Amino acid sequence: MRYNFDEVIDRSGTNSAKWDKKTLQEMFGVEDVLPFWVADMDFKAARPIVDAVVKQAEHGIYGYSSRPDSYYEAIINWTKRRHGWEIKREWIEFTPGVVPAINYAIQAFCMPGDKIMIQNPVYYPFHGAIENNGCHIVDNTLKLNGDYYEIDFADFEKKAKDPKLTLFILCSPHNPVSRVWTKEELEKIGDICCKNNVIVLADEIHNDLVFSRYKHTMFASIKEEFAANSITCTAPSKTFNLAGMQASNIIIKNPVLREKFERILEKNAIGGQNPFSIAALEAAYNECEDWLDQLLDYLEENIRFIHYYLAEHLPKAKLIEPQGTYLGWLDLREYEPNGKKLESVVYKKGKVALDGGTWFGRGGDGFIRLNFACPKILLAQGLERISKAINEEYSK
Ligand SMILES: Cc1ncc(COP(=O)(O)O)c(C=O)c1O
Repeated sequence: MRYNFDEVIDRSGTNSAKWDKKTLQEMFGVEDVLPFWVADMDFKAARPIVDAVVKQAEHGIYGYSSRPDSYYEAIINWTKRRHGWEIKREWIEFTPGVVPAINYAIQAFCMPGDKIMIQNPVYYPFHGAIENNGCHIVDNTLKLNGDYYEIDFADFEKKAKDPKLTLFILCSPHNPVSRVWTKEELEKIGDICCKNNVIVLADEIHNDLVFSRYKHTMFASIKEEFAANSITCTAPSKTFNLAGMQASNIIIKNPVLREKFERILEKNAIGGQNPFSIAALEAAYNECEDWLDQLLDYLEENIRFIHYYLAEHLPKAKLIEPQGTYLGWLDLREYEPNGKKLESVVYKKGKVALDGGTWFGRGGDGFIRLNFACPKILLAQGLERISKAINEEYSK
């Protein structure tokens, strides 16, 4: 089946966090903004998912649900087929989202006062999860080397040696700088963490969204030692645009770590799942691989379009080449290095809602994050608004 990713679907009035006017007004101080922020897509889910959810809805009874064997088989088969990692049924925990899982992991593996390492600029709920659980952020800031970001391994190792540092949160692929870490980079990270007793939480929610020239490696699949020292978070939510369904797969091979994690889930009475997300996850992993392959082609076209558009209309802007995710990290420092000022121009003058670079911690000033998972016609409107506002403001 051919899917039409050019179709513009009106999301207003559907309680979409991304499009809701009141939310936009509160977040950006402007009502009639075009949204490219929150990481969900403006594409309809694949047909088999819609059919499975409609079938569930039409049944008409929405009682408590249990996860059937077929649910776990769908996750196991997908992980093996797409990523070459063989996992077992008992390693898989359910949480209603990856951000909740990160919070539970901190509660399970860290004590208040512990240090947790991240790599800014990074997905900002990492900051909140660490601080809300009484721990301290240690930042191994990523370095921009021309066209792509790199890890400062000397700094990483120095920080990992601190006995108070108990956890490293890996974002792989990385949001917002859209790096797909190579196996060699992951190996270096993993070796340093194992040597220094630092547990790795691998947030691999974007692991299926990787472009044709790049290859994603699941961290825990690299070595037995890494699997024993890590927890991995995946989900169909980004891949198949099911974020509102709130179903994530938390894979923990090590029974000691798993038991600690389970205890926290129990303490918070986490386990029940809504029947729609059970149906949707199975349909997604079992029947929608062709949709994903077509989506990736469409997203690559959108990347080419952004490059072309910027070269023509905003030549001093640079899109950091996305290797994965549908989030573009746009360098506008040559126009405005002051993050807050830049964001105000884009929101107020451009009437575009985007995640500001400053939201992501150190290294974010002068950047904006553009969610390009939308029909090209919307992307063109957004780019036109951004370039017009910036040219008017900075070409005086
Ligand atoms: C790296 C990363 N982790 C987690 C999430 C959100 O996870 P969830 O909605 O399952 O809590 C996102 C969403 O953008 C993300 O980019």
